[in-house]
Amino acid sequence: MRHSPITSRLFSQNRENLCKKLPIQALAIVHANDILPTNADGTFPLHPNSDLFYLTGIEQEESILVLFPGAPDPNHREILFVKKSNEHLKVWEGYKHTQADAQKISGIQTVYWSEDFEDIFQLLSQETDIFYLNNNEHSRASNEVETRDERWSKKIRKDYPLHEIERLAPHLHALRFCKRPEEVKLIKQAIDVTTCGFRKVLRMVKPGVMEYEVEAEWAREFIKRRSKFAYSPIVASGKNACVLHYLQNDQTCRKGQLLLMDVGACYANYNADLTRTIPVSGKFTRRQKQVYNAVLQVLRQSIENATIGKSLKEWQSDAHAMMTEEMLRLKLFTKEEIKKESTDQPACRKYFMHGLGHSLGLDVHDVSNEQSKFLDNSVFTVEPGIYLPDEGFGIRLEDNIQITPNGPVNLMSEVPIEPEEIEDIMNS
Ligand code: GLY
Ligand code: MN
Ligand code: MN
Repeated sequence: MRHSPITSRLFSQNRENLCKKLPIQALAIVHANDILPTNADGTFPLHPNSDLFYLTGIEQEESILVLFPGAPDPNHREILFVKKSNEHLKVWEGYKHTQADAQKISGIQTVYWSEDFEDIFQLLSQETDIFYLNNNEHSRASNEVETRDERWSKKIRKDYPLHEIERLAPHLHALRFCKRPEEVKLIKQAIDVTTCGFRKVLRMVKPGVMEYEVEAEWAREFIKRRSKFAYSPIVASGKNACVLHYLQNDQTCRKGQLLLMDVGACYANYNADLTRTIPVSGKFTRRQKQVYNAVLQVLRQSIENATIGKSLKEWQSDAHAMMTEEMLRLKLFTKEEIKKESTDQPACRKYFMHGLGHSLGLDVHDVSNEQSKFLDNSVFTVEPGIYLPDEGFGIRLEDNIQITPNGPVNLMSEVPIEPEEIEDIMNS
């Protein structure tokens, strides 16, 4: 792994918190993700399973966690299974965890080989009536491909039809939604790397530069700093910025245009999610600055509004009201048009068509809590935007915040955002 070691206390505390939510006789299982195919004999790099990482710190394929708080054998209360290396793997893939390494990373004392999972699981199954099985229950997940968790769940249902089955995901989501101090520290590290990238990019953007050259500059900074892209970066000049999921990054940045960059680093599986919009020639036009300041105003006020207990719905609807006011000032529509709006269809949707923010952590669109309310130590993005294809530009500004009892803390306060500061750095 590229990142510095993380204290295993984080993972053992997470396991302890999860076990407190389960009945004592329950047996919970979490699997690693599959290594997915590309074409021919190719594969994508493994994307670690966030739940498994949260509970173990393990990022290796074919790993399995079993939590069995009431196991008659105390050595079986926590079991980690990892893939056993062999001569072939040593030659072709190199390092795989030894049992001792897996113990050290996770803090789990009982580590077996994954190849023995089925036999051991059969013995454990005789000591419990309830399996807690994991599944991707993200509210927006739409995935045609079966995960390893799902595949094993099917097998367990077939092989043990008389055991009771419960869902693990709601408990994991509730825990993961509120970040522990070590997690906030890791998110901040991802933000620091992202900040370095942004400062570098500010000094290289000029008319004629290609969007992919800008992407390369971000990549260089991230990789150099033990990180990778948290998601496919959006580097969108001119009206490309109005395509919300623009990923081509293949156009020339031209004089007078704005460049919207939605780019974040992933460090130790924790993510940053930044958006900044900058003038390609180093100077905003009057109109661009007007719209920029409108978005900035909504961003600032929405950050302030993100207080413990506030519902996300209310938060977003406050932002819609502010946006509508700003858009009126920008003469994007008339008071008459506003009269037609409803709570479900606010007028500002015409130019601000996505959500105001989302939970952030081990996943970029991280798990949410059932009540959809800000809670102590939840971490969120705030990302208002105004998209004006007819005027040839779109502006989004995105910061990441931590919700605390003393109010929201902007974790991106070091990332330049004032238009004058951006102009100064670009021209220095
Ligand atoms: N970069 C993904 C998002 O802003 O939600
Ligand atoms: Mn983003
Ligand atoms: Mn975002």
